Amino acid sequence: MHQNLLDQLRCPYCTGHFTLTINLKSHKDRVLYGSVECNCFEFPIIDGVLLLSLTQGYGGSEGKLIPYESFMAAAIVFIHTGDLDGLRAWIEKNSPILAQLIYREDLSFVDFNVAYTRQFHTHNARYLDEQKRQYGVVGETLEEGAMPADEQGESVYPKTFEDMLYRKMASGGNFYAKRYFDSSVSVTRNILLQNKPDDYLLSLCFGQGVFESVAREHVAADKMISLDAQLINIFITKRFIHPDGMYICHDLYFPLPFRDGFLSAVFASTCLPELVNQAQVVREIARVTSPEGWGLIEHIWTGKMMRYVPGRYYRYMQNFFASFDNYLTLLNNTCDPGRTHLTAYGFGDYRLDAVDGFTPLSEMEHIDDGTTGMISILMSAKPREIGEKAVPLTDVEAGRLRLSPMYELEREGDALRGAFKQDLRDFMQMTSPDTFEMDLTRLDERTYLTELYQAGVLLLLPEPLVDHFPPLNQWADLPESA
Ligand SMILES: C[S@@+](CC[C@H](N)C(=O)[O-])C[C@H]1O[C@@H](n2cnc3c(N)ncnc32)[C@H](O)[C@@H]1O
Repeated sequence: MHQNLLDQLRCPYCTGHFTLTINLKSHKDRVLYGSVECNCFEFPIIDGVLLLSLTQGYGGSEGKLIPYESFMAAAIVFIHTGDLDGLRAWIEKNSPILAQLIYREDLSFVDFNVAYTRQFHTHNARYLDEQKRQYGVVGETLEEGAMPADEQGESVYPKTFEDMLYRKMASGGNFYAKRYFDSSVSVTRNILLQNKPDDYLLSLCFGQGVFESVAREHVAADKMISLDAQLINIFITKRFIHPDGMYICHDLYFPLPFRDGFLSAVFASTCLPELVNQAQVVREIARVTSPEGWGLIEHIWTGKMMRYVPGRYYRYMQNFFASFDNYLTLLNNTCDPGRTHLTAYGFGDYRLDAVDGFTPLSEMEHIDDGTTGMISILMSAKPREIGEKAVPLTDVEAGRLRLSPMYELEREGDALRGAFKQDLRDFMQMTSPDTFEMDLTRLDERTYLTELYQAGVLLLLPEPLVDHFPPLNQWADLPESA
């Protein structure tokens, strides 16, 4: 956490400034272990992460893996006594998973994630089982839902990284890891590169850092703030994806810790409907963004039918909107009239007019045409690029590109053919083609590689994942299929 940023934050609870009162360990102008104080509380900084949340609003079984509130209390006590060894012993005893992320040196993203996902699903299954036995209407018994074993008695929790990607969520997949294999990441990259922020960029609810993996190559580390309520996601992203970024643990049920217009851009993907207070979150994104900046809320879904889901491991009641049109109402009631231009991709442009509310600029009257599963909303004062035009992969090392493991492959002469493994469609935000044919003699052409990347056939994976998948030229060397 850079001191420059600490000086600019506002306490979300009392609006006061923060003063760095304890600086136990720092590196250059980054505070690694310390404490900041405002008018109402003191908040610890642990391994560079500012713990700003006073409650665990996210809830559910994940609290067992990292008992957040006790962790924060322990952090305050040990920071006060200057006892970093004591803090380490506390973490090792009470949250081995967090201890690994902070202290263990030889840890790989792939191995950690497989072990963590197994543990996570085991916890969820037990948690839901307890809930069901206790309350009847919520939770699922082990037999009903969480499926700890298949018919042969084999555990269905993932043993390999591929298991994590390929298994359906209910039987132990990992949503966050799977996001790295989603073709929509190329669109996100286009948007970021076509609308590069001039100053601070905030990434909200970032999961395992899909956005951070893209943004870290284009935004300075001391201008990149990532905020999420779930400690495990924060420490995974920090450890494996963007170690130099600035991280805040904060619950979006409370205001954001920034003054009005402080940020150049705010990005939030695949999370808005999950937040109970959707209107407040949109209002906060608009408030903290500068008038020249932008806020992108990507991958919004609706789902009236899913209001009560007894088998959720963290939120049984989902106040998902019934229709995408409801988002126009929400935006109309939350955004600052006169400076909001709204683009809901794929469904035309809307402009917020102080008198009439949102005015569609296209012929379409409604966002909701009944065929889409997702919309994304870009809020800005003027129309902006929404990632439809591909940004060529000119500055990217071709050696970092990998073929999507979502395809069954077959080689014939210079052609490599792929067929999408249909049962993996779950949790893909954007659809990759069912089949593709790649010309293996054209792998040195950047425009060709860019096209395949845009389609989701090729992936630009973060460093800790790249080596797990074979390099592109390996396919050129493979023998033809019989
Ligand atoms: C479905 S995930 C999306 C992750 C990521 N943006 C992506 O696209 O893969 C939702 C994220 O929102 C975070 N989240 C949920 N409720 C939150 C809250 N009340 N405050 C802050 N973060 C929250 C979760 O911890 C999780 O990282």
